[in-house]
Amino acid sequence: MPVDTWFPLAVYYEDLPEATDHKKQLMDAVLQLERDGYERRAWPEMAWTGDLHGAEQIHTDPRFGWIVGQVESHVQAYLKALGLDLNQIDLYIQRAWPVISRHQQEVGAHCHNTSHVSAVYYVSVPNSGSDEAGSLVFFDDSRPNEVSPGLGSENTNIVVDWNGLNQDQAMYAPTEGRLVLFPSKQRHGVTVNHTEGERISLSFDIVLAAKPGSAAGSYEFLLPPPEQWKRFGR
Ligand SMILES: [Fe+2]
Repeated sequence: MPVDTWFPLAVYYEDLPEATDHKKQLMDAVLQLERDGYERRAWPEMAWTGDLHGAEQIHTDPRFGWIVGQVESHVQAYLKALGLDLNQIDLYIQRAWPVISRHQQEVGAHCHNTSHVSAVYYVSVPNSGSDEAGSLVFFDDSRPNEVSPGLGSENTNIVVDWNGLNQDQAMYAPTEGRLVLFPSKQRHGVTVNHTEGERISLSFDIVLAAKPGSAAGSYEFLLPPPEQWKRFGR
């Protein structure tokens, strides 16, 4: 009885070999940004995220130059794996920010609505490789096999055999030195950090735009080149 499965979500990851060489400098820079940032604006049970606290441009900060270069090369590898012709596309890091999750803190479910590809890099993780410090969770909102919508709801006990054909979540344990890439539109969150230590990660939002002078039609499906835009009044 063959059962085929189709339409996979592509999540890319790579353990960066130079991670330990850069760990301390990245940690120091993140903790300095936290000290220099706004007063805390998130609920106590939520992780400190730089995008809410005035630290959302680490992609232009020289202290993060190494990881920015890694993100750039791995995003290109990811997009090539997705079958894209990178000769027709310009890539931009649109914003990037650190996240610090301490004991009992989490990140609620969300998607990154203003970008196309998102990246997370784990600088420092207590009990690295286990889910204790908070796993990255992807949610499948399309649920193609939920033949009667709501069957898998936590309010029912109709699904008794949880398997690969009805799973609605995929979890990635945080792993120090690992870079993870995924489509920005994929809804995700981060589970609670149950350790006493702090988990430090970096988030990047990447945008695809057409190269100037690209073939006719591509501007309908890719953002036209930002340098061709006109800001009102300028
Ligand atoms: Fe996110």
